[in-house]
Amino acid sequence: MRILVCKNYDEMSKKAAQMILSQVTLKPNSVLGLATGSTPVGMYKQLVKMYNDKQIDFSEISTFNLDEYYNLPKENNQSYDYFMKENLFNYINIPKENINIPNGMAKDVEAECERYDKSIKDCGGVDIQVLGIGHNAHIGFNEPTINFERGTHLVDLKQSTIEANARFFDKEENVPKKAITMGTGSIFKARKIMLLACGESKAQAIYNTVYGKVVPEVPASILQFHNDIVLILDEEAASKL
Ligand code: GLP
Repeated sequence: MRILVCKNYDEMSKKAAQMILSQVTLKPNSVLGLATGSTPVGMYKQLVKMYNDKQIDFSEISTFNLDEYYNLPKENNQSYDYFMKENLFNYINIPKENINIPNGMAKDVEAECERYDKSIKDCGGVDIQVLGIGHNAHIGFNEPTINFERGTHLVDLKQSTIEANARFFDKEENVPKKAITMGTGSIFKARKIMLLACGESKAQAIYNTVYGKVVPEVPASILQFHNDIVLILDEEAASKL
């Protein structure tokens, strides 16, 4: 596990974008695993800037997002589909057909999960996976539980996650209670992983991820076993290390 501690959010975002730039420069048809949440927003801004400055080309890139809320139409401004368009896809030259996000409105969820895993496989697997982290160390929407899930699946969100995400919705009762997420197993298969975290509120989750026991109650702890992972943190998120 490599750990990079940055002065602040801005520096963290720039470092993360530079790593994506290096990946795409080395392999223009890379498969990127992407994350939502407030943490990667600055990185996406940097990538859009790099694109406008003609430093990076997304024309051969494919992307797979980690997760999507269940039963929330993609037109809803809180869906992760909407988030990705607003923060990245609308501003870069990625072909629409290369963008993959789980379909949270699928009638047959099990078939949708299988389809998603197969698409990742057919694309050759994820080259670099971007991750944020929840306060309870969830990755994607893999909540603390009693086993590490392998593939894409439907999850019940923990009350603490619903509360943390309530800030984006008008009322807490509008926050979806379920989501479709890649499993910890699928995340772990990425060739490289880059986990971003900022702010004091993530410090304990980061400590548990780096020094804690590898247990499914701390989903991100499994990353200790990955052979190409970097944590890019601001000083506050790194404050307990
Ligand atoms: C959600 C997402 C995660 C993200 C987490 C933290 O639960 N599913 O992928 O890492 O939120 O979000 P934030 O970056 O806003 O703290």
